[in-house]
Amino acid sequence: MADGAQKLRSDRVAKGQIMATLFYEPSTRTRLSFESAMHRLGGSVISCSDMKSSSAVKGETVADTAKVVSSYADVLVVRHYWDGTVKAMAEHADVPVINAGDGSHEHPSQTLCDLYTLRKEKGELKGLTVVICGDLKNGRTIHSLVYALARFSANVVTLAANGMELPQYVIERLEKEYGYTLAPVASDDLSAVVTETDALYLTPRQPHQLALFTQLDPVIQTRLNTMVSGLRYDAFYMTRKQKERMKEGTTGGAYPSIGASFLREQRFKDTVVMHPLPRVDELSPELDKDWRGIYFKQAAYGVPVRMALLKFLFDQRDPKPTSTKKSLPIYQSPERLGPQCRNANCITVMEPASTVRKFDLLTGGPGGALILGCTYCDHRFKVQLVGHVKSKRYCAYDIALAETVKDWLKKKELAIFNSIKEAEELGYEPYKSGPQRNIMDEAEIDGAVREISQQILRDCQEPDRLLILGVRSKGSYLAQRIAAEIEKQQNRTPEIGEIEIYGSGDEIRRLSAADPNAAPLSLKDREIILVDDVIYTGRTARSALSIIFRSGRPQAVRLAVLIDRGHREVPVKPNYVGKHIPSSERERVRVKLRESESDEKDKVVIYSIINPNEGAQSEPKPGTTAET
Ligand code: CP
Repeated sequence: MADGAQKLRSDRVAKGQIMATLFYEPSTRTRLSFESAMHRLGGSVISCSDMKSSSAVKGETVADTAKVVSSYADVLVVRHYWDGTVKAMAEHADVPVINAGDGSHEHPSQTLCDLYTLRKEKGELKGLTVVICGDLKNGRTIHSLVYALARFSANVVTLAANGMELPQYVIERLEKEYGYTLAPVASDDLSAVVTETDALYLTPRQPHQLALFTQLDPVIQTRLNTMVSGLRYDAFYMTRKQKERMKEGTTGGAYPSIGASFLREQRFKDTVVMHPLPRVDELSPELDKDWRGIYFKQAAYGVPVRMALLKFLFDQRDPKPTSTKKSLPIYQSPERLGPQCRNANCITVMEPASTVRKFDLLTGGPGGALILGCTYCDHRFKVQLVGHVKSKRYCAYDIALAETVKDWLKKKELAIFNSIKEAEELGYEPYKSGPQRNIMDEAEIDGAVREISQQILRDCQEPDRLLILGVRSKGSYLAQRIAAEIEKQQNRTPEIGEIEIYGSGDEIRRLSAADPNAAPLSLKDREIILVDDVIYTGRTARSALSIIFRSGRPQAVRLAVLIDRGHREVPVKPNYVGKHIPSSERERVRVKLRESESDEKDKVVIYSIINPNEGAQSEPKPGTTAET
């Protein structure tokens, strides 16, 4: 439709329509190209020149603003600094609302311009390989772009600045919805144009790259390396460092740029360079004069693309468009207290009055976890505690409760809590524990930690590069114990870190920083020992690996676990195991450590899960507190 912009213009397809632009954040391209598009379609535009001179400063909610302005206009175009705000406004407006950029979340109309530009330059999108560079964490244009590239079966190479990697929730959506997988790219390929970064490759429908972990398996490693070397790069998509979204003091460090050497490299002779603009100093000025620098064209396409988008919207208004997207089960707490999004910049946190707390309920997270995805900002987190509304009982969520929880959700009897305190405040009581059998005592756990530490030291090539990385929270405690053992044996303390599979903010952080202002943990060229308490399905280890490999290029990653339960859904083989305890899905193995329990002594226990619904008509029966 954008190709026929002239015709749309002469047909004045928006005659009599009014568009309102509400920009709570600065903009040049998005705002002016939307306004220009509307004028060219024969429509008119109303606007607040500056939202700081609107009633927002008097405390008006975005919900009220959306409701009111939608009675003055036929379409709203909104940019806001909180993630998920545009969706919240769309829920309150009586006309369509277009997302012109919301916080670090998404910028979908920019993506339409990007796809249009790429297709014009390269003929088609399928099979293209696009390198996305820079601030992939906060760059909202990037998040919308990678989903769109995946939808059109393009390949994506990520080249993030240190600490600005693609968020895990974005990667998991690519994996789950589009069947994409991650693999390393031979970084020499890109070193001519980019510094201080490592590449990852996202590609459709390839076998899963967990083999990365089997670094000891040279056959698989060679196959992987072959698969992703010698790529043809069709486009580089560079982004600016989003300083305005970073905490003060975290904006330092090297940032990739595309230099003049790019222009001289024979293998980039057909590679175009894109940028959503504004740019700061990520692009060499020489690129402006080269045909491959297409970012001004990309900005110019903003007008025909947005003309097409507006025409499409006006055509869709009657009858209402129907979504073809497969919907996930939605969770809304039946209790007055309930889960909250952990993204501190989410509209549900910043202005709860404008939202209804709703979550996509996703099963099959790491370790069979139950995951909540915020419907406004898409951030995800793990469910710890579930309750049954009728019986007023709660317990820790466990994979064995998956079917029961599904049933409770269907009957609107599922309560999810942030904490035990919250459950008890609502009058819930815990399910009683089932019978437990001790399978490891304190002395045995100590011995296992000692043995694992000795094996790590035997295998370690360069102790200075060693990084002990625990999976939060039990894995972190074990990582600290292993590090203490290594210190005893070697008289030197290895660096210790913690990895958070689901949470907000930094996913990998130091545990041993003497200096609170120490730089972020660098994974580059490190020998990493990933530590967890129990391995069962292998999904937790897979998620941790995916975070590690997109956060830097370690020299090696090895896995240490206290307990290996023997079953595996994904092919991860731990290198160091304290004890093998073959067990079934209905059994739970729980590692109890002094640091996390009120018990004085460490122990590992095993017990059977009793399904809360078994043996009762509708009343759940006692189950257990359990975790993997
Ligand atoms: N690309 C982009 O969103 O530019 P503006 O911030 O100028 O709208």
